[in-house]
Amino acid sequence: MTSFEKIDPAELFSHLPANRCGEAERRYLNEICEAGFSNKGESAGMIRRFEEAFAAKMGTAYAISHNSGTGTMQSCLLAAGVGPGDEVIVPASTMASTAFVVVECGAVVVFADCDPDTFNIDPADVERKITEHTKAIIPVSVFGLPADFDPLLRLAEKHNLTIVEDNAECYLARYKGRLVGTIGNAASFSFQASKHMTSAGDGGMVTTNDEEYARNIRKAAVVGYAAVDAKPGSTHVPREVRQDWTYKRHDRMGYNFRMSAAQAAFGLGQLERLESLVAARQYIASQYEAAIREEKCEWLTPPYVPEGCTHSYWCYTCKLDEAMLGVDWRGFREAFIEHGGDGLYGLWTPVHLETIFQTMAFYGSKDRAPNFDPRYKGNVKRYNEGDCPNVEAYRKHLCLFKTGMQTLDKVNAQVDALRKTIRHYG
Ligand SMILES: Cc1ncc(COP(=O)(O)O)c(C=O)c1O
Repeated sequence: MTSFEKIDPAELFSHLPANRCGEAERRYLNEICEAGFSNKGESAGMIRRFEEAFAAKMGTAYAISHNSGTGTMQSCLLAAGVGPGDEVIVPASTMASTAFVVVECGAVVVFADCDPDTFNIDPADVERKITEHTKAIIPVSVFGLPADFDPLLRLAEKHNLTIVEDNAECYLARYKGRLVGTIGNAASFSFQASKHMTSAGDGGMVTTNDEEYARNIRKAAVVGYAAVDAKPGSTHVPREVRQDWTYKRHDRMGYNFRMSAAQAAFGLGQLERLESLVAARQYIASQYEAAIREEKCEWLTPPYVPEGCTHSYWCYTCKLDEAMLGVDWRGFREAFIEHGGDGLYGLWTPVHLETIFQTMAFYGSKDRAPNFDPRYKGNVKRYNEGDCPNVEAYRKHLCLFKTGMQTLDKVNAQVDALRKTIRHYG
């Protein structure tokens, strides 16, 4: 845990507008209102500025804007050539998008179990699940903690796999000195409203250092246009090219995952105070942790941060020992709310146990699921209880406390609610 003794919380939160829209966001949005929304000329300039600034912040050669952190991963897989007959390994505990993008490519999702302490994908289980069909791995840096990348990079090198980091929940965190977003072949970020930074409610970005990969990711996000490339702001075909009847527009398969200029304007403003946005979540985590420690609470286990990692705390995730407390998860959540808490989330259902992965009716009839690909020679893959035992065991006991509060009053109210709840149980 970062030491926050020397940080002045009042100073820190003075940089965070309560409604998340600061002076910079207003100024950049106003520029777009003046320039119009055509995504060309000055408006396209805003996309270029946001992409340049994001790449500079992460220290990568390229940043390719998208309209969501789902579209980002779809582009990364498409650009990596993932398709029918391939397998992609993802953690069983993630938001379902990480798996859906694999299905959408016509490839088979293979779920790996997660570590019961970090909740991140378990490299040993990934290794067990690699086959001759495996094409990519999507490690999710879940709840804001970097995944254990080194063993995954070794596996990727050995088996010639693409690594796409899913950093939807992880900003500015470090893994053995390296910033997330710079470790895999490409990295995906989400700017959806609950995330550390937002581009006005939705949006996403891919970072990479590989120019050819970046160009193909751009094409995947911009309708496969032959004339777009990896350069910042290259989201539209120049008029002279576009208007000529001889122009063959599409040299690759692509979707329209373009970010709008207005989203870029908002995101650019947020990016300018990303350090404060992340530090605020780390401060909030430090306050929850202080409450647990000072109240000598033994039935909540604070998040574990491995040596060499920093945590960006998209949320503050504790394990609840219901047997020691003598109250079940729902009872604890109710007590937290009664003492002023703004609720707390349980873990997502493990994706392999979600209804859609049980029915496999991805495209209507389940027979059309990628898992029924004839290359499996009748050995149809299904998803079953018991596939990922760690996740299936800890999923019932996690408490995800919120860290997205933008004012100190709201922070103190939540931390006080936790203290009171702990005292209530004595
Ligand atoms: C781990 C993870 N992956 C992917 C996503 C998808 O991002 P988006 O909502 O921007 O599509 C999210 C969040 O929404 C997420 O938490």
